[in-house]
Amino acid sequence: MPPRRANLPLLAHLFTSLATAATRAAATSYSVLDYGAVADGRTDCADAFFSAWGAACADEDEGPAAVVVPAGEYLVSRAKFSGPCRSGAVAVDIAGTLLAPVPYAGVQLWIVFQNVNGVSVNGGTLDGRGQAYWACRRAGGGSSCPAATRSLTIYRSRNVLVRGLTSLNSAGIHVTVQASTGVAIVDTVVSAPGDSPNTDGIHIKQSSDVTVRNARIGTGDDCVSMVEGSSDVWIQGVTCGPGHGISIGSLGDTPEQVAVRNITVKAVTLSGTTNGLRIKSWAKPNSGLVDGVSFSDVVMRNVRNPIIVDQNYCPGNVTCPTEGSGIKITNVSYTDVEGTSATPVAVRFDCSPSRPCTGITMRNVRLSDGMQQRPAESLCRNAHGIAYGQVAPPSCLDDDQETPCYK
Ligand SMILES: *[C@@H]1O[C@H](CO)[C@@H](O)[C@H](O)[C@H]1NC(C)=O
Ligand SMILES: *[C@@H]1O[C@H](CO)[C@@H](O)[C@H](O)[C@H]1NC(C)=O
Ligand SMILES: *[C@@H]1O[C@H](CO)[C@@H](O)[C@H](O)[C@H]1NC(C)=O
Repeated sequence: MPPRRANLPLLAHLFTSLATAATRAAATSYSVLDYGAVADGRTDCADAFFSAWGAACADEDEGPAAVVVPAGEYLVSRAKFSGPCRSGAVAVDIAGTLLAPVPYAGVQLWIVFQNVNGVSVNGGTLDGRGQAYWACRRAGGGSSCPAATRSLTIYRSRNVLVRGLTSLNSAGIHVTVQASTGVAIVDTVVSAPGDSPNTDGIHIKQSSDVTVRNARIGTGDDCVSMVEGSSDVWIQGVTCGPGHGISIGSLGDTPEQVAVRNITVKAVTLSGTTNGLRIKSWAKPNSGLVDGVSFSDVVMRNVRNPIIVDQNYCPGNVTCPTEGSGIKITNVSYTDVEGTSATPVAVRFDCSPSRPCTGITMRNVRLSDGMQQRPAESLCRNAHGIAYGQVAPPSCLDDDQETPCYK
């Protein structure tokens, strides 16, 4: 196994055990080929992957154990990599491409890591082959098709590093992090058509201490989405487009209390996306808060809604009363955001009449209406905060006692 390169400083604390183990002793490798996998793209290799994982997970030698997937194409009907493992750390080194079954089998989760602690997934291409599923969705709508298969899911796990993954054409969400802590997803490529339904790039739920660094994402839904229970999330170096942008939400579809805290989004570029930086909650009698979101160093190119907070979300006006969302949004900053909007309204803070947004700060935000080559507009409802430096379109925020001091 090649020596591991030093992890980014930010991630170092998560992976100390993996890195030290790797330098101490060579990994014991378990190749899927030795467990009966055939790299012909047609033979189902699910059993071979299951067995190779089982052996690596049970390995008690000193040093990490590795599951090795050599170059080639492997049909894998589904793969559940479950822990806890007896070995301290498991690496899954993938040189090949994993193919999802076609026609779609209706499994909700295709490749899953669950209850693991200290796993790194290195390289690999996952081809979800979602085309037939999307055709079903487009033809019949939701209910006539089975649930969308998600390509990669990290569930109930700790200290997981996914590095150098390419995820193509997932039928549903490409990468899901749920009920986990200490997860880093670095050097990722996600690719699906702009009109593929609900194919979010990276989706984070009920998880903390999650890092996404260096990702190139083009897909049919949010490039990165964070929903209830996301906290201490760091997203840096993402390019997004096509797609629906970087989103917090939708939040509060059910009455359960929602909390999203301490989200950092930095150095991202959005091109031709429907939204840029979005926070969205249902206009329902829900409760909870979004507290502490920092967006900085953002470039927008021809984005339909570059900056948007929508607390009155209610597609079709069907199930929502009219008082807006009960979720409090506070302490959200936008710093050094520039580029072009594809619509006249580049900044939209459409907050809840019952729980107004507070503590919004804008500093050096320069967005123009790219279509008209003129200044863009901003729109505020129930939005409080302060603007600093150059802000165009001019801020429409109301003054706010609660706005934190800006250094
Ligand atoms: C916010 O999250 C980052 C990681 O994204 C972490 O380093 C930082 O300590 C957190 N801040 C607070 C106040 O918890
Ligand atoms: C605002 O949120 C940031 C994280 O984005 C945090 O570091 C800061 O302490 C928060 N400020 C207040 C006043 O809550
Ligand atoms: C929903 O209701 C709002 C306000 O009552 C209205 O402005 C909007 O056009 C409606 N949207 C739909 C899709 O009916």
